[in-house]
Amino acid sequence: MTKTLLLLPGDGIGPEVSAVARRVAGRLINHGLPLTVEEAPFGGVSIDAHGVPLTDATLARALQADAVLMGAVGGPQWANQSYATRPEAGLLKLRSEMQVYANLRPARCFTALADASTLKRVYVEGLDILFVRELTGGVYFGEPRGVETLADGQRRGVNTHVYTSSEIRRVARVAFELARGRKHEVVSAEKANVMEAGLLWREEVQALRDAEYPDIKLSHMLADNMAMQLVKNPRQFDLILTDNLFGDILSDEAAMLTGSLGMLPSAAIGDAGRAGLYEPIHGSAPDIAGRGIANPCAAVLSLAMALRHSLGAPELAARVEAAVEAALDKGARTPDLGGTLSTVAMGDAILAGL
Ligand code: NAD
Ligand code: IPM
Ligand code: MN
Repeated sequence: MTKTLLLLPGDGIGPEVSAVARRVAGRLINHGLPLTVEEAPFGGVSIDAHGVPLTDATLARALQADAVLMGAVGGPQWANQSYATRPEAGLLKLRSEMQVYANLRPARCFTALADASTLKRVYVEGLDILFVRELTGGVYFGEPRGVETLADGQRRGVNTHVYTSSEIRRVARVAFELARGRKHEVVSAEKANVMEAGLLWREEVQALRDAEYPDIKLSHMLADNMAMQLVKNPRQFDLILTDNLFGDILSDEAAMLTGSLGMLPSAAIGDAGRAGLYEPIHGSAPDIAGRGIANPCAAVLSLAMALRHSLGAPELAARVEAAVEAALDKGARTPDLGGTLSTVAMGDAILAGL
């Protein structure tokens, strides 16, 4: 049964790093993987061509695919657009329509990169944290939202942070299940000290653990403290469960523990049987876009996550990850990692390892 991978290269460095992931997928296909790779417009390029970041046609193809692999979206040319039609709004709609509520963001420091982090080797060597970020709720989606002009002429901006107990429990369940394949430890982060929805988060996560996951060691940490603990002693964490906004911020922070934002892949998954959405956690990097120097590792590692979680090929996922590691072991580095290789040359090194 041939499966379908829909590639959404997007904007900025998105097409540059996606091209490397596509080459890797092509190599696997040449060696017998029954996979068809298709492409569709998404993000700023879709705004330019079709007026909206996510067309009905691209959405329909995403919902039909077995997995979707995205590059990145956004950039200064679309930043003044009204919020609802910006590239980022298309990404939120895609996540929501695909119902991928659990975003897995592994932050792993490859041995070869232990000196690439801005933190000392002694703190990051062997680091392996899995973030489970809630992805389809919270302040990203809450209503009301918008900007209004008040009677006195001031403007008032509103976003709403909101979670229901079932939204919290379904992502917590994903975290607990994954913890059973790791160290049986979960640290959940929120701001229960100042937010009602944060307290609800804490209570629901604890209640699910007590009812169904007594084998899991669960602890709770305020998100501001976690931001500090992640640089003080990051290896105290194995699996971190948190909401949409804190997960966004803390995973970017954790990326620097691995050497570069260009190293972190992600998998967004929903209920069993639904297609997953795979994307590097980095953005379109307008500051380096078009120069051919972006690190493609996060995109290639995102393909590996797609192979594992949606395409039924976990052994190939492991091979792709090993190929990235082999390239790094041989000293292959893009500039963000302190090297001089181009995106294409880094791709060559990964393919050589494959
Ligand atoms: P960014 O992640 O694009 O870049 C932050 C910094 O990291 C930049 O200095 C960039 O050069 C560097 N960087 C990121 N990825 C890299 C890579 N693969 N290799 C080497 N260096 C890399 O974040 P930003 O600049 O704050 O945002 C730019 C745009 O991207 C915004 O429009 C934002 O909304 C969007 N964005 C999109 C996604 C996504 O599509 N999933 C994620 C984050 C940000
Ligand atoms: C990410 C990005 C997105 C987010 C933006 C582009 C909508 O920062 O995937 O980390 O905030 O979720
Ligand atoms: Mn982000």
